[in-house]
Amino acid sequence: MSTDDKPELPTEAELAGMSRDDLVKLGGKLDGVELVEYPNPWPVKGTRAEKRAERAVAFWFVLSALAGLAFIGVFIFWPAKYEAPRFDGVFQAYYWYTPLLGATLGLAILAVGVGVLLYVRKFIPHELAVQNRHDGGSSELDKKTIVAHLADSGERSTIVRRSLITRSIGAGAGVLGLGLGVFTLGALLRNPHARSDSADGLWHTGWLNEPGNDEKVFLRRDTGDAEEIVLVKPEDLDAGAMETVFPFRESERGDHAKLSAALLRADNPVMLIRLRPEDGARVIKHKGQEDFNYGDFYAYTKICSHLGCPTSLFEQRTNRILCPCHQSQFNALEYAKPIFGPATRKLAQLPIDVDPATGVFYAKSDFIEPVGPAFWERKS
Ligand code: FES
Repeated sequence: MSTDDKPELPTEAELAGMSRDDLVKLGGKLDGVELVEYPNPWPVKGTRAEKRAERAVAFWFVLSALAGLAFIGVFIFWPAKYEAPRFDGVFQAYYWYTPLLGATLGLAILAVGVGVLLYVRKFIPHELAVQNRHDGGSSELDKKTIVAHLADSGERSTIVRRSLITRSIGAGAGVLGLGLGVFTLGALLRNPHARSDSADGLWHTGWLNEPGNDEKVFLRRDTGDAEEIVLVKPEDLDAGAMETVFPFRESERGDHAKLSAALLRADNPVMLIRLRPEDGARVIKHKGQEDFNYGDFYAYTKICSHLGCPTSLFEQRTNRILCPCHQSQFNALEYAKPIFGPATRKLAQLPIDVDPATGVFYAKSDFIEPVGPAFWERKS
């Protein structure tokens, strides 16, 4: 047939009595569609090849469902709490939390995609049709015939009678959808702020003692050997000097894992500064932190309040603390307030004192404000 031929239109009564096959053919003619090829991919039903193809498609949807379940399981049950790196070969499960989330979710999505592609390749008739374009909206007749076409395509794809595939699609898509839902509502299942009184919460650092532990947290230096404990005393620093210090508890002595963790934890490093006496006399203290210093000694976090780089430089002449990343500068004479660069918040100050029994510096408490960059509840 030429695609320009105008088919004779059926009457209302004839239309009502037409079968779906008739409607499909009529729809094609009305749209000037010529079906050049419309082969049935499985003309002989129930062959072993067909069953094999069916199982291959189902395999991918089932795999997607299993990966989706694994994703939910990892999300809810796998340990996600940060632990400092260990060097004694002990397996740290939390390392694998993010990679496992990515792998399982990625596999679930990939498997659904492969399943759909395989189904289309194996079971949808690969028709070849030629159609002329036409202008304007579709008539009632066109709409009815296109619905028939779609229903016919669905039937020819044999999806309805392939229960293995439909069930596996349902399982794959359902579990994947459930997984994405769990992901979205994750904070209701795992609340990272649940233990805000813990040193591991966002509000605290390794300078906080766990509840029930009231031992002193001393200031130690890092000599390169975690087990070599060198505590810091006032006489160790010259006027105008700076030293990086870390928390140490007597109960951790000899415990390599805990000592290493204290040196490696990101929010632990503190800058202990000894101002020159003439500068110490000019210091302006932050309200509520007037007794955080010990004489001319001031302890500030080394974590920059801009983006968290280590503020490792102290310029004795100007009393400025410098962050090398984006050149923020903080005034050590005015509670480490930012005076240049992109940082907008002061460096958190650690309250310190000297233990009368040993003459060693210790922290009177943890920081009273969150350490580091742009923490959302922090005001100054
Ligand atoms: S991280 Fe310190 S200035 Fe940007």
